[in-house]
Parts: sequence; structure tokens; C-alpha cells
Amino acid sequence: QTIRDRLFSKASDDQTKCPCKVTVGVGSVGMACSMSILLKNLATDLTLIDVIEDKLKGEVLDLNHGNLFLSNVHIDGGKDYSLSSGSKIVVITAGARQQVGESRLSLVQRNVNIFKHIVPKIAEHSPDAIIIVVSNPVDLMTYVAWKLSGFPRHRVLGSGTNLDSARFRHIIASRLSVSPSSIHACIVGEHGDSSVPLWSSVSVSGRSLTSIEPKIGQPDGPKGWDTVHKQVVDGAYDVIRLKGYTNWAIGLSCAEMVESILKNKHRIMPVSCFVKGMVGIKDDVCLSLPCVLNASGVNNIVQVNLNKSEKAALNKSATLIAKVQEDLKW
Ligand SMILES: NC(=O)c1ccc[n+]([C@@H]2O[C@H](COP(=O)([O-])OP(=O)(O)OC[C@H]3O[C@@H](n4cnc5c(N)ncnc54)[C@H](O)[C@@H]3O)[C@@H](O)[C@H]2O)c1
Ligand SMILES: *[C@@H]1O[C@H](CO)[C@@H](O)[C@H](O)[C@H]1NC(C)=O
Ligand SMILES: *[C@@H]1O[C@H](CO)[C@@H](O)[C@H](O)[C@H]1NC(C)=O
Ligand SMILES: *[C@@H]1O[C@H](CO)[C@@H](O)[C@H](O)[C@H]1NC(C)=O
Repeated sequence: QTIRDRLFSKASDDQTKCPCKVTVGVGSVGMACSMSILLKNLATDLTLIDVIEDKLKGEVLDLNHGNLFLSNVHIDGGKDYSLSSGSKIVVITAGARQQVGESRLSLVQRNVNIFKHIVPKIAEHSPDAIIIVVSNPVDLMTYVAWKLSGFPRHRVLGSGTNLDSARFRHIIASRLSVSPSSIHACIVGEHGDSSVPLWSSVSVSGRSLTSIEPKIGQPDGPKGWDTVHKQVVDGAYDVIRLKGYTNWAIGLSCAEMVESILKNKHRIMPVSCFVKGMVGIKDDVCLSLPCVLNASGVNNIVQVNLNKSEKAALNKSATLIAKVQEDLKW
């Protein structure tokens, strides 16, 4: 008899599995997502999957040592995707990241080659999961993951411009000295250089900023505000130049997506999903529009009100993604 047998008497043989399992990777982004998910107490099980075995074991051990301060989450990990089986959400953070000054689009073929290996295994072991793609270029990788998984479109989404929008709201908020959560503002399109800021719908307490200053955010508009979108686009490059990679903000933004899904919150967030047929987009592409996120994934996309120049910018963003997509080998 083990000490455990002497301590407990068995009350039932029920082997019901823990209900809320999330799988993530262990790079700098994967660990930031993991920590944000743990601190928000969203998962009962957290599984880390990667190809670097020592790093994996070390991260699992380190997190488990912290379990006293968490909610006794079952944390495990390894190279084998069977460990991820039955996940509610799989966050894909695997892949090459940008070097200083490198664009996201230049990573694409390298990451497609990785996805060819991992996405079919994810789908096999968690056929009912929702996949959240974070690897860059995230819009293309979301499309690739959707195709490789064979999942319905509402169950494959990308972190998209949720992060760009957070940067946008942070900059506007600090100019107005209020909290970013009190600014309504959204960036749509490609997560990257061709993203589209929707100045026409920026508002504070229902008051639209264009009602105060019609040219706000435009090159010929009020000083200071004209460079806000450029600061958003440059944001990632600045962080990469200074610390080598970005991770905390993407980890937090990803955990918020996980939360809206697992808790069925129906929050609206700009995330990447298949948008053909929306706002005049005619190509087979994924890009970000504001979406309702609930336990089923993305079932509803907001019919955003775009003016002529915003529509043209979104079309340009979609065309750029479609063009790179055409040349992918997979
Ligand atoms: N969408 C966003 O907003 C956003 C923000 C930041 C970073 N990213 C992207 O996230 C990705 C990861 O960035 P990072 O900084 O964590 O990089 P990283 O190098 O720290 O981590 C990448 C991880 O992927 C793993 N990996 C490589 N091949 C694999 C395979 N075949 N199977 C499983 N794992 C594999 C590596 O071992 C490594 O641990 C990059 O593509 C980066 O551009 C996206
Ligand atoms: C679209 O909206 C922006 C922001 O309100 C404005 O500056 C721009 O002139 C508008 N473009 C058109 C074509 O109406
Ligand atoms: C952009 O608009 C043009 C002209 O309407 C259209 O032919 C093209 O398919 C659109 N591009 C995308 C990506 O939808
Ligand atoms: C999520 O939202 C969609 C559309 O609004 C709805 O059909 C679906 O039932 C919702 N899912 C859950 C689990 O509530």
C-alpha cells in the first residue's frame, strides 16, 4: 500500500478528464501567452509543445514550481502532439521570428514548412479545438493553418490586429490622458505594414474624434496625430531593435482571445479570419476585422463602416496578402 492509498479511500472510479485544456509553444511568445493564460486562471491544463527538449523540460519544471501561486493547473509538455490531445484551444507560436529590420512577410515560406508538419498533428489529436495562430506573417499563416487543419472556418483564427489595435489605443489614450480601455479604436487588415487604422470610427465615450477634427490622423491633419499610425506600425520594429523580440503585449492580447472563447464572453476583437465576401474583399484571404469571439470561435464579423479611402486601403492590404499567398509552396 502506498502512502496515498493509506491517506485516501476511493469514492469512485470516475476518470472524467479536466475540461479546459490549452496547448501553447515555448518560444518567447509562447511563454508570454502561457504566463498570461495562467495568471488569468483560464485553463485547468496547460500543455507546452516544441522541438527543443531541454528548454521544454525546463519551462515545464519552472512553471510547476510556481503552481503553489497559481490554481494548481496541470502543466505538462513534450515533443509529441499526443500530449495535446483533447485541447479546447491550441495556440500556435512555433516558427521563425523577424530579425532587426526584417518584415513579417519574409518569414512566410519558412513558417509554412513548419506548419505542414505541425497543423495536421494538432488537428488529429484535438479535432474539436479552436486554433489561434500567432506565428508571422499571421494572416497568411492563419489561412495556411485553416487549409491544413480541414477545420471549419470559424475554428481557425489569428491574433491579427488585436495587438496593433492595442498599440493604437495606447498611443491615443496617452495623448488624451485616459485609459486605453476608454478609447474605442480599431486597426483592420494585415497585421503588419499595410494595416488600416479606422480613424473614422475612433471615439471616446461615444464622441467621435473626427467630429472634433475631421482630418485627425491624416498627413495634412493636426500635428502629432499624423504620425500615430506610423508609430503603431513601427512599434514592433522598435521593440525588436531594442530587446530582440516582442512578447509581453502579444501574450496578453492572446490571453484575452483565449478568455473570450473559453468563457464564452462574446467580446468583439479585431482578429484574423477568412473574410472573403466581407466589405468588398473578393480574394481568398484571412485578415483582421472586428469579430465576435465566443466558445464556438468566430461566428460573426462586424459590418464595419468604411469610407472610400479606408476601403481602398483595406483592398490594398488584402491584395498584398493574396499576392504573397499565390507564391506559397505547400
Ligand atoms: N502575431 C503577432 O502579433 C506576433 C507577435 C510577436 C511574434 N510573433 C511571431 O511568433 C513567432 C514566434 O516568435 P518568438 O519570438 O516566440 O520566437 P522564438 O524563436 O522565441 O520561438 C519560436 C519557437 O518555435 C519553435 N519551433 C520551431 N520549429 C518548430 C516545430 N517544427 N514544431 C514546434 N515548434 C517549433 C522553436 O523551437 C522555438 O521555441 C514568430 O513567427 C514571430 O514572428 C507574432
Ligand atoms: C475617411 O475618413 C478619414 C478619417 O475620418 C478622413 O480623414 C478621410 O478624408 C476620409 N476619406 C474619404 C474619402 O471620405
Ligand atoms: C480590390 O478591388 C478591385 C477593384 O474593385 C477588385 O478587382 C479586387 O478583387 C479587390 N481586391 C481584393 C483583394 O478583394
Ligand atoms: C456563438 O455565437 C454564435 C453566433 O452569434 C452562436 O450561433 C453560437 O451558438 C454561440 N456559441 C455559444 C457556445 O454560445
